[in-house]
Amino acid sequence: MNVLILGSGGREHALAWKLSKSTKVSNLFIAPGNGGTQACGTNIDLSPTDFDAVANACLQTKTKMVIVGPEAPLVEGIVEYFQDRDELKHITIIGPGKKGAQLEGSKAFAKEFMKKFDIPTARYAAFTKETLNEGIAFIDTLQPPYVLKADGLAAGKGVLIPETADEAKAELKNMLDGKFGKAGDTVVIEEFLKGIEVSCFCYTNGKDYVMLPEAKDYKRIGHGDTGLNTGGMGSISPVPFADKAFLKKVEEQVVKPTIQGLQQSQIPYHGFIFFGLMNVAGDPYVIEYNVRLGDPETESILPRIETDIMEMYEAGTADRLKDFELSFSNQHAASVMLVSGGYPEQYEKGLPIMIPENQHDCILLHAGTTLKNNNLVTSGGRVMAVTSLQKSMDKALKAAMSVAEQINYEKKYFRKDLGFDLK
Ligand code: AMP
Ligand code: GLY
Repeated sequence: MNVLILGSGGREHALAWKLSKSTKVSNLFIAPGNGGTQACGTNIDLSPTDFDAVANACLQTKTKMVIVGPEAPLVEGIVEYFQDRDELKHITIIGPGKKGAQLEGSKAFAKEFMKKFDIPTARYAAFTKETLNEGIAFIDTLQPPYVLKADGLAAGKGVLIPETADEAKAELKNMLDGKFGKAGDTVVIEEFLKGIEVSCFCYTNGKDYVMLPEAKDYKRIGHGDTGLNTGGMGSISPVPFADKAFLKKVEEQVVKPTIQGLQQSQIPYHGFIFFGLMNVAGDPYVIEYNVRLGDPETESILPRIETDIMEMYEAGTADRLKDFELSFSNQHAASVMLVSGGYPEQYEKGLPIMIPENQHDCILLHAGTTLKNNNLVTSGGRVMAVTSLQKSMDKALKAAMSVAEQINYEKKYFRKDLGFDLK
């Protein structure tokens, strides 16, 4: 089968790397891809939200399956676009339709869904400009710090955690006044949950599901989880505190009720669900849903999956998922993200990248790279992830860091303390 992956980050390179090993894939395309995905298939230069261009590419390449990496095409309705056209109907899209994508596209929708189906999450209420005063009164019912979330997609920047009630009230007003554009027309205010975060993932056809390995990502730019938020500075999988008992609670209290809730709401769903969870004293609470795999979590979870994931997609499509099992490696994966100096603020692009000849069995998963006259150069803030699989988290981190040290471009930066909170 010919398969197209949409997206251009480390997550998409990880998917391409994994699918390039599948005997079930004849030709693999990545759109637009990056300087690394080229080694796994053919890059097609188009924007994943330009559905006409995606459709043309599928028809020209006789693609039968599209795997959507990022959320934007899903929220904008790529599934409906394909379903509504006779010449595209036969193509399977891995990712939910517009309605299911609201689990990520609207925080107010997601919270209401969780409340309705009794899925553990922080206490909350949602407000608009018209209900500003109720919002201010609601803040007074909570303990500090406060969590304010723009309802819509805000490029990962729409969450504020002010320390005082006065700041929270001022920020609520700012958000409703357009601080995050239209995404903040509705603001969710919720209780702050104290605990440690973990990302869990399932693949579902809307009826049955399989769990993928869990992971923990590191979002802040600085050592010790300090400084600005980023797209992700690395990840590890498995997560030591996510033991069997905790993961069972995740399935029973979160995953099953979510899928049942989708069914009861008559929302068809074929794709991944990412559960951003807080472990509060041993119990999982949902902080957010995403309707896709995580980045940089994918860079550590896919290398741990031993099964050909095309078999999983086939089982999902053919309604054979109930008895399907993925086999995971017992090894520990660590993925270290190399970024451009200055990121997540201003940084340079176009810097030549030198890769060492000996990569010591690490997997290099590119994100912000491109080929310029056949030379690899940086093209984004997050440049590439180095993933290592070893017998322990410490060994995997050590091996990945050692290769990260040897990759060179000007002003390279990476966090050297991943896993610090898990020892
Ligand atoms: P989100 O975009 O919803 O994932 O939120 C971004 C980050 O804010 C999360 O990864 C958490 O670190 C933090 N956060 C969000 N909601 C809460 C909450 N209710 N309690 C504590 N931290 C939160
Ligand atoms: N790692 C968090 C995300 O993909 O949104």
